[in-house]
Amino acid sequence: MPPVSPALDATLKRMEHYHRKLARSVSGWLAPESAEVVTHIAGQQITAGLKGGVGEIGIHHGKLFLLLYLSLQEDERSFALDVFEDQQFNIDASGLGDRGIFMANLARVGGDERRVSVFAQDSCSVTAADLAVATGPLRLMSVDGGHTEEITHNDMRLGEELLLDDGVLVLDDVYQERWPAVAAGAFRFVLEPGRQLRPFAISPNKTYFCKSPSAAARYRGALAEAFPELRLGEVTMFGSEVLILGRRTLVNRVRNHPLVKDNPALYRRLSALLHKLR
Ligand SMILES: C[S@@+](CC[C@H](N)C(=O)[O-])C[C@H]1O[C@@H](n2cnc3c(N)ncnc32)[C@H](O)[C@@H]1O
Repeated sequence: MPPVSPALDATLKRMEHYHRKLARSVSGWLAPESAEVVTHIAGQQITAGLKGGVGEIGIHHGKLFLLLYLSLQEDERSFALDVFEDQQFNIDASGLGDRGIFMANLARVGGDERRVSVFAQDSCSVTAADLAVATGPLRLMSVDGGHTEEITHNDMRLGEELLLDDGVLVLDDVYQERWPAVAAGAFRFVLEPGRQLRPFAISPNKTYFCKSPSAAARYRGALAEAFPELRLGEVTMFGSEVLILGRRTLVNRVRNHPLVKDNPALYRRLSALLHKLR
């Protein structure tokens, strides 16, 4: 295990303090397990010396954005894009951005406004070059704005243009029955000729994409090692291996306990029992 640098240690403490203590008082959508996965990915990037900006499309009150922000290292910057008060552009009524509440939440976590470029506009009206002026190439970006097929496709394209090869795009709601057009937009994007982003992991409500197959394999391997108790399995999608991480439920914990996992007969009996108890 390599020694943890002071910068990494301080970053992980900031991010963990936020998602364990502060995030519950910020309105929005972020499962605790996904907050842990995002924190782990940021930690891997810092350990690997990957430098770049962070950003999100679809802020609402900043619940996930603040976690990305708290991963910033010296000289790194962020962007926050949302239609905010122009809710006529929120055509599918996903969330309800509020710039005032967002800025107040940023202040509550000790954020510095000068390190956040706010874009108060429809994501379909911005170019990757506009966003890159604010942050440079990105190492971590969340897409959680409009949930239509066209907007998801547009936002994935922005992500592909903005991200470093080893950077990670976090897409919300791909497997949510309430928002099926997100999957349509995302997978239409992935299947287009020449597109590089491929999924490598899934956690509650989030799907993680990367352009570099070798970086994706490193992220996936490190997540599997860090979260054995959440592992539901692996699947191949579009030629890429995808790790599936679930919620920290009693069923998942028991099934993934080493004593149970390595004993197929016990695994089957306990799975059947837990299934009945559900
Ligand atoms: C589901 S919420 C985002 C939740 C947020 N990521 C969190 O961590 O809680 C979706 C947000 O996207 C914004 N939005 C909807 N359509 C948009 C568009 N076309 N461009 C930019 N933002 C949009 C909404 O105003 C809303 O704040």
